[in-house]
Amino acid sequence: MNFFDDYVKKYDMSVEEIDYKYHHSYRVMENMITIAKKLNLNDKDIELAKCIGILHDIGRFEQFSEYHTFKDIQMDHGNYGEEVIKRKDILKHFDIDKEDYEVVYTAIRNHNKYSIENNLTERELLFSKMIRDADKLDIIYVIGNPKMRDFIHEDDSEISENITKAFYNNTQIKYEDIKTHSDRLLVYLSYPYDINFDITLKIIKENKYYEKIYNGLKYKDKYTRYFEHINKYIEERVD
Ligand SMILES: [Fe+2]
Repeated sequence: MNFFDDYVKKYDMSVEEIDYKYHHSYRVMENMITIAKKLNLNDKDIELAKCIGILHDIGRFEQFSEYHTFKDIQMDHGNYGEEVIKRKDILKHFDIDKEDYEVVYTAIRNHNKYSIENNLTERELLFSKMIRDADKLDIIYVIGNPKMRDFIHEDDSEISENITKAFYNNTQIKYEDIKTHSDRLLVYLSYPYDINFDITLKIIKENKYYEKIYNGLKYKDKYTRYFEHINKYIEERVD
């Protein structure tokens, strides 16, 4: 993955956010390989999965150097990633078929949306689903990791009523519906509802990611029944 390293090194790697995105990209690439293999994809498709994984957040580097934040209000980094890849002709550095370029664009454009756009080809849909799972998998891993979990921002605020309602309706919580700091964790806790492949849920379960998140919480009691609910949901889908 020399292209990616060379590309990122043009940005300031001493900035924590840049460094974080660099490593996140590699972890998501690894998740893509794992998912691709579990789906029994062939070598060519594993290569495509790797390319999408490493490049999925490529728009973030330009976004950060321009705006100094990763807030999605300024720009949609999925759409922006597609634009950067096209503008800089990045795919020529990867060993993938030209016929698959549209699959890369589509998957990256769709990786950060609330839901996947309609009318995709079977292949575009498959890789869009994969990158969405691979990305979520890393975020859940990060939040459960004591050294890296600081973006939950816990405090003693209440969980909003509409968030609770949506959660128990087994709905993925939207970032834009967050009103209190306590709501934020529910976004991540509701990820399994939007996980596409049961094999991804199996990875979450086997690695005990949600247990690790729970154990690291300061205000555990507030969330206990939410964790019970989501663990039960995962159990039912994994079995
Ligand atoms: Fe990502």
